[in-house]
Amino acid sequence: MTVLVTGADGYVGWPTALRIADRTDERVLGVDNFARRGWVETVGSVSATPIGSMEERLAAAAETGRENLSVVEGDLVDRDFVAELLAVHEPTAVVHAAAQPSAPYSQVNGERANDTQHNNLQATRNLLFGLHEAGLSDTHVIETTTTGVYGAPEFPIPEGGAVMENRGERDEVPFPAMAGSWYHLTKSHDAANLRLANKQFGLPVSDVRTAIVYGASTDETREDDRLTTRFDFDYYFGTVAHRFCAQAVAGYPVTVYGRGEQRKPFVSLEDAVEGLTRLALGDADERPADLTVYNQVTRPISIVEVAETIASVGNEHDFDVAVEHFENPREEDETHRMEIENTRYTDLIGEQRVDFEAGMDEVVASLARHRETITAHEDRFLPDVLE
Ligand SMILES: NC(=O)c1ccc[n+]([C@@H]2O[C@H](COP(=O)([O-])OP(=O)(O)OC[C@H]3O[C@@H](n4cnc5c(N)ncnc54)[C@H](O)[C@@H]3O)[C@@H](O)[C@H]2O)c1
Repeated sequence: MTVLVTGADGYVGWPTALRIADRTDERVLGVDNFARRGWVETVGSVSATPIGSMEERLAAAAETGRENLSVVEGDLVDRDFVAELLAVHEPTAVVHAAAQPSAPYSQVNGERANDTQHNNLQATRNLLFGLHEAGLSDTHVIETTTTGVYGAPEFPIPEGGAVMENRGERDEVPFPAMAGSWYHLTKSHDAANLRLANKQFGLPVSDVRTAIVYGASTDETREDDRLTTRFDFDYYFGTVAHRFCAQAVAGYPVTVYGRGEQRKPFVSLEDAVEGLTRLALGDADERPADLTVYNQVTRPISIVEVAETIASVGNEHDFDVAVEHFENPREEDETHRMEIENTRYTDLIGEQRVDFEAGMDEVVASLARHRETITAHEDRFLPDVLE
């Protein structure tokens, strides 16, 4: 038995590969083309947390008892590479966490939109067809799609499909692709392709609609500095709470656009890694259905609450953090009160491991140790690099 983790050099993929390797004696194989390191370099930034080369990471993993973990370099867009990878290793589960995951990067221009959609869609298609063509129809495909596929509807977001009514007749349909960026739409397309692969090829699928992930570490990455996962804070690759924490540590006010009362869904890195690990190693008969959607989210939180929590945590760490409101350059509903169902996901992970305040505390404490890296790149908080 082999578990394959794609995107194994990434923020989520690396700690996920470590946890899966901890919980099984079987082989865990990661794959990555290290594109993320290059993308962040292109925008003139770096990971705030120093990350080692994959050789260093794997040496530390082996020394901490994870000799069953290895990583190969390869591009999932390359169909022949994927076909060979799957045929040789015959994984029983694939945790697919490889993607170009930045919405702002995908929005820069047509070329970046093309690159993002080509990369993400082709990688997923290659995995789905690769499994089918290798005869691996029982392999469980687990993808970190995104809660962004739901957009911001004026009703509680279901955990998966939606009910559509026309001329008095109703049916359950896949949730419409209401994503708001070229990147997020790749995950809407992936969700549709996963569904088709489940129907046509019989592949069992867990479509894990992942919220904004927060946290700088997990139990595993804290064991050795060489196991640290990446943490980005620049405009393109830093997600909102992470960027706010970096601003706080660098001595900037935390900037909220407009009222900032709109709620966004969040989940801690600990909880995200736990959910993916349980799915990768769980028994087939534990899964609710052949194609299951999980809303990997623990709580929607308003941007103002995010900022105020970070200011209060920052102040406890002796950073003088103010929250400032600026006129909103974006067209968005500043008061959208997102509600999102997550019963299936909370059943999967059991209790929440790290709540938002504890998560922000851990992030600020971690970034305080790497303050110089952030201040050396503080102009990267702003979007002036790519045109
Ligand atoms: N981090 C979040 O807040 C968040 C939220 C929702 C969904 N997600 C999704 O979770 C997954 C992991 O996100 P992340 O934050 O760890 O991103 P990440 O960029 O840190 O990790 C993705 C990894 O995939 C690799 N990759 C990209 N294209 C590849 C290709 N063609 N072949 C091989 N490797 C490739 C990258 O080099 C990178 O190491 C992504 O699918 C992302 O869309 C993340």
